[in-house]
Amino acid sequence: MRTALISDIHGNLEALEKVLEDIDRRGVDEIICLGDIVGYGPNPIECVDLVAEKCSWSLMGNHDFAVLYEPTNFNVVAKDAAHWTRDVLEEAVEKDPVSGNRRLEFLNRIKTRKCHEQIYTCVHGSVRKPINEYLFDDDIRDDPAKVRRIFEMIDDRCLVGHTHVPGVFVYTEEDGPDFMRPSSLGNEDPDDPILVGVHQFHPDEKAIVNPGSVGQPRDQNDRASYAILETSENEPHKVHFYRLEYDISAVADKIYAIDRLDDWLGDRLFQGR
Ligand SMILES: [Fe+2]
Repeated sequence: MRTALISDIHGNLEALEKVLEDIDRRGVDEIICLGDIVGYGPNPIECVDLVAEKCSWSLMGNHDFAVLYEPTNFNVVAKDAAHWTRDVLEEAVEKDPVSGNRRLEFLNRIKTRKCHEQIYTCVHGSVRKPINEYLFDDDIRDDPAKVRRIFEMIDDRCLVGHTHVPGVFVYTEEDGPDFMRPSSLGNEDPDDPILVGVHQFHPDEKAIVNPGSVGQPRDQNDRASYAILETSENEPHKVHFYRLEYDISAVADKIYAIDRLDDWLGDRLFQGR
C-alpha cells in the first residue's frame, strides 16, 4: 500500500498542483491530507475542491478550524487571513449555492483524528492536542517531558503536520527520542532529484512522521514538501520524503494583490519560513 501524505497546503494552489502531479506520476493507492488546507494563501476554494476530489480524507488543522469557527491564539496577520478566507468561502456560496455548500459540507465533516492502516494515528498537531500543539525537534532538548508524554500516548506510529517542518521523530526505550530531517536520511535513488530521504521504520521504535508543508515550508527550503508512506505486511514500512519546485512568484503576486493578505505571506514563501 502506497499512501501519499500531504499537509499544510494553506491555499497555495500552484504548490498543490505540482505535488499532485508528482504523486500521480509516481502512483499511489491513496492520498491523505493532515490538515490546514486553507489560511494564508490566495486560493482557498480551489485547494478545498482539489483536496475533496483527490484525497480519501483530510484532518482538521488549526487554520481550517479558524476559518470554520474562530481563530484562537492567532497573530494579526493569521487572523486577518482567516477572516478573508471565510469571506471568500461565504461569497462563493452566494455565487454558486450548490458547489459552495458542498464545499462547506466537506469542511464541516473533516475530523480531528483518524487511524490509517491500524497503526498510524493521524492528527494535525499532536496526539495530546490534535489541532493546536506543535512538536518541534527543539522540544527534545528544551521540553523532554512533553516529548516523553506525547510518545507515551502513541502505541506505534503517528502522522502529523502543523510545524511545516518535514522529518521523523523516533523513540526507543534504549535511546529515548531523536529527530531526523529528510536530508539526514539515506536516499535510495540518487538519480531521483526530487527524493530527499527515506526512513525505514524499525520494529522497536515508535515514530512520528511529519511530511512537511505543501504550501508554506518553514525549514529554510522554499520547495513544496510531501511524503509517500509504503506499508506492506511482510516488509518493514518506509516513508519517502520529496521536495518540488513550483512557481512561487505567481502565488506571491496573488497575495500582494489582495489587500487583506499581508505581503509577508508572499515574502516568506521565497524564504521557506
Ligand atoms: Fe499550517
